[in-house]
Amino acid sequence: MIVGSPTRAFKSTDAIKKFLNSIPPNGLKGMDVLAFDTRISAKDTNSKVLNVFIKVFGYAAEPIGEKLQKKGGNLIAPPEGFFVKDSEGPLKEGELERAANWVKGRKYSLSS
Ligand SMILES: Cc1cc2nc3c(=O)[nH]c(=O)nc-3n(C[C@H](O)[C@H](O)[C@H](O)COP(=O)(O)O)c2cc1C
Repeated sequence: MIVGSPTRAFKSTDAIKKFLNSIPPNGLKGMDVLAFDTRISAKDTNSKVLNVFIKVFGYAAEPIGEKLQKKGGNLIAPPEGFFVKDSEGPLKEGELERAANWVKGRKYSLSS
C-alpha cells in the first residue's frame, strides 16, 4: 500500500491522519508499504524563519511512514517527498520521474 499526502503545516492532511488512525492495530501486518508527500522546497520559501521551522518539524512523509510501520506495515523504501512549484502544484520538472524511480526496483509493481 502506498500512502501520500500534500504537506500541510509540516504534517499530512486531516483526512490522511484520520485514515491512518482508522487502521486497526496490526492491520497492516505482512503488507509492504510506502509513504510519500508533496512539499515546497525550503529554498523556494525565501523565509529564514520558515526554513528553521521546516528543519525542525519536517514534512508529512516521515510521520506517515512511522504510522504505517506502527500498524504493522513493512516499509520497503525510505519515506520520500516530491517538490511542487506552488501551493496548488504542479510538480517541479523531473519529480514525476523521480517518483517513478522511487518505486522502481521494489518487490512489487504499482499494479500488484
Ligand atoms: C495551508 C497550507 C500549509 C502548507 N504547509 C506546508 C508545509 O508545512 N511544508 C511544505 O513543504 N509545504 C506546505 N504547503 C505546500 C503544500 O505542500 C503544497 O500545496 C502541496 O504539496 C501541493 O500538492 P498538491 O498539488 O498535491 O495539492 C502548504 C500549503 C498549504 C495550502
